[in-house]
Amino acid sequence: MERPCLKVFKGKAEETRKSLLNASLLDPDFMLKVDGRFVLIPVRDGTDESRLSEAGIRCKVTRSDMVQIKKVPRSYKDLAKVPDELRGLLPTSFDVIGEVLIMKLPDELLRYREEVGKAVLDANRHVRSVTLDRGVKGELRVRDLELIAGSTDLETVHVENNLRFKMDPSTVYFSPRLSTERMRLASLVRSGEMVLDMFCGVGPFALTVARYSEAKSVLGIDLNPDCIRFLRVNAALNSLSDRVEGILGDAGEIVPTLEGFNRVIMNLPHSSLEFLGPALNVTRDGGWVHLYSIVEGSSYKEGLARMMSVLNASGKEWKIETAKEVHQYSPTQHMMVFDINVLGPA
Ligand SMILES: C[S@@+](CC[C@H](N)C(=O)[O-])C[C@H]1O[C@@H](n2cnc3c(N)ncnc32)[C@H](O)[C@@H]1O
Repeated sequence: MERPCLKVFKGKAEETRKSLLNASLLDPDFMLKVDGRFVLIPVRDGTDESRLSEAGIRCKVTRSDMVQIKKVPRSYKDLAKVPDELRGLLPTSFDVIGEVLIMKLPDELLRYREEVGKAVLDANRHVRSVTLDRGVKGELRVRDLELIAGSTDLETVHVENNLRFKMDPSTVYFSPRLSTERMRLASLVRSGEMVLDMFCGVGPFALTVARYSEAKSVLGIDLNPDCIRFLRVNAALNSLSDRVEGILGDAGEIVPTLEGFNRVIMNLPHSSLEFLGPALNVTRDGGWVHLYSIVEGSSYKEGLARMMSVLNASGKEWKIETAKEVHQYSPTQHMMVFDINVLGPA
């Protein structure tokens, strides 16, 4: 491309380049070019002899074919074809499950969703599909995802803590934000334990416990047939089928038919309290229940009081060993975990 430039002797090139740079006259989008004993240095449009002389450079502006430097886009924000006044609204964080990227967009950007999706695809080679998050819905806690760019096939393999989880995030629940919590939980499990994961999804807690502890067995229950199908696939994918089993059905009906667990995981944060009674009944003396719960800042005490009343009605002695925030769930809500030690008959 023909561009304005300065033609200077090689011996003067570096000094001239520095002077141009200091005076903001160097055009950083084009490469310097060697031409025999001379070097051609690209300058910005509008550079003239008076501006050069102000910068202490005595030279004429000429024109030559110059090679443009290919800019590597820093992020999808540089590529997205949206009005400049809305660029600042483009989100900076999203969830990525395997090759599926899940993003939320403010209302102002919804009409540009396809452009945004295309930019995300172009800027991220490891992303195959870009989806818009329209919220987690219903009893099965499945995310309503709208494909905005890329492949319609959303089945993918997500790697977490060196375990592989196959799933379709549009038909099952999965949160990549719990990976640290799953490792914490696995680290608590002692050799020979029988573990029950009452709301197992595609098996992230169940398989993390099986891989990183010496649990004897892990049983997962879920109401979503796709979850149990993927749990079994994932147990095989990670060579853990000998210690991980899945049952399809309602934990509220299945758990009362079971007994003798050392540890029960309850990750159904919006309604886990409803199932705490049956969970306590199948937990052996000295065992543990890990209950996850969404707590609204203002109703924390109320939630705790409800949990205490279920614990008190269980006829068992108990102790809440840990009550801590796992992560922020929304601007006003937090996800908490309660590690409850079931001590024995009251
Ligand atoms: C919040 S997700 C957690 C899944 C998994 N533990 C994880 O960390 O990805 C809750 C799961 O509970 C399942 N579920 C909801 N109600 C249930 C019930 N009554 N019995 C068994 N599973 C249930 C849903 O299908 C969903 O997969």
